[in-house]
Amino acid sequence: METGVQARAESNAGRHEGRGHVRAAAPAAAKRSTTEFAYDLREALAMRPRSISPKYFYDARGSELFDRICELPEYYPTRTELRILAERANEIAQLAGPRAEIVEFGAGSLRKVRLLLDAFDAPSRFLPIDISGEHLDASAAALRRDYPALDVQPVTADYTQRVLLPAPLATAGQRVGFFPGSTIGNFTPAEALHFLQSAAQVLRGGALLLGADLVKDPAVLHAAYNDAQGVTAAFNLNVLARANRELGTDFDLDGFAHYAFYNAPLARIEMHLVSRRAQRVTLEGEGFDIAEGESLHTENSHKFTVEGLRALAAQAGFRPGPVWTDPERLFSVHWLHAPE
Ligand code: AVI
Repeated sequence: METGVQARAESNAGRHEGRGHVRAAAPAAAKRSTTEFAYDLREALAMRPRSISPKYFYDARGSELFDRICELPEYYPTRTELRILAERANEIAQLAGPRAEIVEFGAGSLRKVRLLLDAFDAPSRFLPIDISGEHLDASAAALRRDYPALDVQPVTADYTQRVLLPAPLATAGQRVGFFPGSTIGNFTPAEALHFLQSAAQVLRGGALLLGADLVKDPAVLHAAYNDAQGVTAAFNLNVLARANRELGTDFDLDGFAHYAFYNAPLARIEMHLVSRRAQRVTLEGEGFDIAEGESLHTENSHKFTVEGLRALAAQAGFRPGPVWTDPERLFSVHWLHAPE
């Protein structure tokens, strides 16, 4: 499981920044929406251009599809970051020092944090933060089994907001935040800054180990989000499939095309679902007309330059430290010193 809760920071208003959303007047049906998903989908269908938070990709089926994406030959980020972490684990452990306390933002890939736990000198405690308690409990149980001496304390919270963590243990060393996978790229630039500012406070006196995908040949990026097996397409379409399952909508999945492209001026992959024909969808009794060629914007995945990421971190109060990349400079891992 890579992570069950991507991009929670994607706020509802202005989520896909810079697109100049115009919202249609909200009919009374908005007030009747039964769940946050129903409410947000209703808003998405009513606004122009249409967009919805990528957090809705990640139900059980979406998380499964995302795990498959991470294994795809075209999707280089996961294996490249793992390789960097494995190769640099000892160096990272030196920076972390003895008895470090690891705070992971998102109940992430156990594979990744294990690389740190194995290399660190007697890590004192592991605090995974995730909004899904269920996901956290599963991760925590697996880690406790394999690291019986490690104090694993899951924290159920929205890590994109300021999180209250248990006080550091008297015997603990540095607090080291871990935010891998370039999930920061799914935030808007303003949300990324806000996240880093909050993390700087939570990690005071310690550091953040951050994974960020790099700007590169658009052909490589394009392939990573348009895989030959169609797993990314299924992942994208899952937001509609999920709406059909959970909200009883009648989206015809064959009526939408997965469309992912690199927006070079904004240095981001954009994922959309484009309507193949004029169609009408019903959500909680309300009909929405979708014209041929109209799109629902489902995700942004920002790509960074090493310098750009360091400048952003500095703006949030971090002092940028060492950066590690792979020989092809596909992906970067940053050590960022938190303020004292
Ligand atoms: C989770 N996140 C960093 C992934 C990305 O690459 O932006 C989500 C993803 N979307 C399509 N493929 C993978």
